Amino acid sequence: MIDEPSALPVAATHDAEIDQLFGVDSPLGHAVGAFRPRQSQTEMAKAIAHAISNQSTLIAEAGTGTGKTFAYLVPALLWGGKVIVSTGTKNLQDQLFLRDIPSVRKALNAPVSVALLKGRANYVCHFHLERTLQNGRLTSRDDVGHLREISRFMKTTSSGDKAELSKVPETALIWNLVTSTRDTCMGAECQYYQDCFVMKARKEAQQADVVVVNHHLFFADVALKDTGVAELLPSANTIIFDEAHQLPDTATLFFGETISTSQVLELCRDVLAEGLSHARDGADWAGTVTPVERAARDLRLAFPQDIVRLAVNQIAPSSIFFPALETLKEQLDNMIAVLQKQAERADTIEQCRVRALELAMRLDAWNKPKTEEVIIGQESVLWVEAYSTSLQLHQTPLSIAPIFNKQREGAPRTWIFTSATLAVKNDFNHYSAQMGLWDEPAKSWPSPFQYGEQGLLYVPTSLPQPNSPEYTDAVIDAALPVIEAAGGGAFLLCTTIRAVNRAAERLREEFERRKLPFPLMVQGEAGRTELLDRFRAAGNAVLIGSQSFWEGVDVRGDALSVVIIDKLPFSPPDDPVLAARIEALERKGMNGFMHHQLPAAIINLKQGAGRLIRDERDKGVLMICDPRLISKPYGKRIWQSLPPFKRTRELAVVQEFFATIDTADASAE
Ligand SMILES: Nc1ncnc2c1ncn2[C@@H]1O[C@H](COP(=O)(O)OP(=O)(O)OP(=O)(O)O)[C@@H](O)[C@H]1O
Ligand SMILES: [Mg+2]
Repeated sequence: MIDEPSALPVAATHDAEIDQLFGVDSPLGHAVGAFRPRQSQTEMAKAIAHAISNQSTLIAEAGTGTGKTFAYLVPALLWGGKVIVSTGTKNLQDQLFLRDIPSVRKALNAPVSVALLKGRANYVCHFHLERTLQNGRLTSRDDVGHLREISRFMKTTSSGDKAELSKVPETALIWNLVTSTRDTCMGAECQYYQDCFVMKARKEAQQADVVVVNHHLFFADVALKDTGVAELLPSANTIIFDEAHQLPDTATLFFGETISTSQVLELCRDVLAEGLSHARDGADWAGTVTPVERAARDLRLAFPQDIVRLAVNQIAPSSIFFPALETLKEQLDNMIAVLQKQAERADTIEQCRVRALELAMRLDAWNKPKTEEVIIGQESVLWVEAYSTSLQLHQTPLSIAPIFNKQREGAPRTWIFTSATLAVKNDFNHYSAQMGLWDEPAKSWPSPFQYGEQGLLYVPTSLPQPNSPEYTDAVIDAALPVIEAAGGGAFLLCTTIRAVNRAAERLREEFERRKLPFPLMVQGEAGRTELLDRFRAAGNAVLIGSQSFWEGVDVRGDALSVVIIDKLPFSPPDDPVLAARIEALERKGMNGFMHHQLPAAIINLKQGAGRLIRDERDKGVLMICDPRLISKPYGKRIWQSLPPFKRTRELAVVQEFFATIDTADASAE
């Protein structure tokens, strides 16, 4: 049967083999310099091998830098059958695909084929590139240069993955013109179908033993079935989620329902066109379509602001939003009635009818928006998001547990959930409940590092409140002497892009003025993989980045000896889904801040801090600038959740720390 993964040989135990592979003289030693047995890693690998033999589920937590990647790759490559590894971001996908998997495969001499699969928007589209080359209205000189680079790239690339072309920044606008979307892809009708990079990546993923995806792709696919993962799932024996702490948020993004006014307008356009060409005499098509279009536009106009996100209960009851919604619903129903009568005149009209019904069904959720909404027996939040020309109506489940649990039904396979931050004080309940993994085994292994000796937590004195306009400047002033004392080798992790830009500007000035030789790298200047490669190679660089550098990123040794965090990473409180979650907690008598925002910020911070110590010999300083760590009552909860670094508020202690490392290094030579 196609829908069943092929059975795996059931090994009683792989323990002995794992002991050997992770022991002294490990073949992995050739793959990474200075490999040493780490008990946590070995034990975790065994637990995963057991889960694979039993086709069961395992939640596996081990501290940052423990070496979880090898702990799951070794058993997966040896015994996992067809494996899907899903990780948090595209750059972690690249790290796995370009670095970790090849090392393990080589060390084990394992004859497995590996494929990388990303979302459609990552691959240059031959058709759209050609169209843009011929008639693109490029508005800037940058675009022209980028387009030239992309054409050149297309002559040599075999993947078409934009991450390979670091000369064109990931955020460059030109990418939109040379990639496809689900709606603009011509599919099998495309003249370039044979050469299509998206199709090629999906085909390779189908055939490969190990496929590397990311969580967005995984869940988008489950919801939309458009990215190639859904086709992979049936034959997969083993599914591994790395950075699994992110899953509840990512899954939430996709398990909801969204309807946008631009979808309605697109439908109207198609109805008019199809109606006129196949059933001109059947109905007054313009008269049918125009009121729907008007209603959709009126709905957008209910929010005069440019960009806004509001939960339904934040919209004033007197807002014209509610009558506009009613009108849209009525007019859409009218249009459906017309389509119903004409559907048999052409397939394309029937298609329009189905689309219209679908939209009407989703709008139904908004009929009684005052009452609590229910999706599959679950609470959900209704919220709107206005863009300059469209309005989106979202219905987002507050819990994804039942939906995800359903996903895991079907043919037995192994599900591994791993991360450094799943449990709160060794209790996995919060995570398991969120994911619907009740009763599944969960285990935590201690960190192999001596944080008290290897690391120092420095919280500078006299920083202003984090919302003050001079805050980022004050962060830089406090960070400069630390960077100098360390001789470079620093990550500056910011909570906002604005802070990234301001910090970059200031550091560039200061490095020049003080004649400091540290290469400065800023997120966005080049691809993340490229930036990290440069960072590792430089040895004394300073890298400024935001969220995407907080998790999973691995730089071992002296190249990274300071991690500076500007602010405690609380999510913006105006996020409607977050607000609804907090409200739901408070209805149950819990404090939303203590039960949701604070734990989430702690996980984030632990992830950021975890970039520092990645090896038994790594040493470094974690600098957290935010004064709330000391001044607020919850601050203690936060620093107590971090690894047990030695702590100081004195710059002199930091300078002394680095001076001692230097002397130790000198005497060791
Ligand atoms: N036994 C070992 N001895 C020495 N180095 C190792 C060993 N195992 C793994 N490493 C190296 O340690 C570093 C950290 O490993 P890895 O990135 O897998 O950590 P992690 O547990 O995934 O951490 P995070 O939660 O931050 O992602 C990597 O550079 C890896 O190559
Ligand atoms: Mg990792």
